[in-house]
Amino acid sequence: MVLATGGTIAGTAASAGDNVGYSAAQIGIEQLLARIPALQGLPVLAEQVAQIDSKDMDWDVWRALAQRCAHWLAQDSVQGIVITHGTDTLEETAYFLQQVLAPAKPVVLTCAMRPATALLADGPQNIVDALAVAAWPGAQGVVAVCAGVVHAADDVAKVHPYRLDAFGSGDAGPLGHVEEGRLRLLRNWPVAPVNTAPSAIENIAKAQQLPRVEIVLNHAGASGAMVRDLVAGGVRGIVVAGTGNGTLHQGLEAALLAAQAGGVALLLASRCANGSIVRHAAGPIRMHARSAVKARIDLQLELLA
Ligand code: SIN
Repeated sequence: MVLATGGTIAGTAASAGDNVGYSAAQIGIEQLLARIPALQGLPVLAEQVAQIDSKDMDWDVWRALAQRCAHWLAQDSVQGIVITHGTDTLEETAYFLQQVLAPAKPVVLTCAMRPATALLADGPQNIVDALAVAAWPGAQGVVAVCAGVVHAADDVAKVHPYRLDAFGSGDAGPLGHVEEGRLRLLRNWPVAPVNTAPSAIENIAKAQQLPRVEIVLNHAGASGAMVRDLVAGGVRGIVVAGTGNGTLHQGLEAALLAAQAGGVALLLASRCANGSIVRHAAGPIRMHARSAVKARIDLQLELLA
């Protein structure tokens, strides 16, 4: 089952030579799949869940996508799901779906860095590779496939604004490679957390919005002003991306601790691209092992529950 959400993979430019001056989310999924000769005659169904540039990803699309995934995953005839998605927030959607679905079948997000009209568009091959992973015996959990590389939802991050191989898995490294339709697995499939998914999908079906959680970054000259503004605006949670091993400017830290004392939930991540915070003892702010954008999803789901 292919679920489409838009992105550059469905984008169009005025000329075939233009890889950057295009509009994302223009071509429907049926049309995109019909252009790929390798898929003709295969038992592949498609559904257009949304048609957006993923920079505009929002709760309505996430909720609809999670619900459509849950629906199709429950069908015995469905072996796996491929989701076409923009690259910009792909890592957030992948992590969100892993947290709420924890699927025993594969859910494979794929994308493109060049629009569908490009001279050498990367989208068709990425779709073919993603379908190969979704159909692979034993495949499970939410993963991303781009430029022949398979990344686990927990680890995947967009690491380059332009090149075709735009994603990385940090210290963990990729899960595997797709080579001429075959998967070469480098490590085990991510293990799905047990018993989290049913309540999570029920909670999100009922929610009109996710609780408001914002991300604040520590940096030279950081102060507590932004935190105080967020608290005054009614924020429910703040994820702070600390410098290095989770360090915070003293002014920012004081404002965060005051917010926490007033009932705002906090999580501390590192703004470093690799690794996670290592501590001798627990500090005053709970730590999160993943990136700030993924920590934000966990805090939102926690507050929702
Ligand atoms: C998007 O994220 O929807 C646009 C950018 C891309 O897909 O590369």
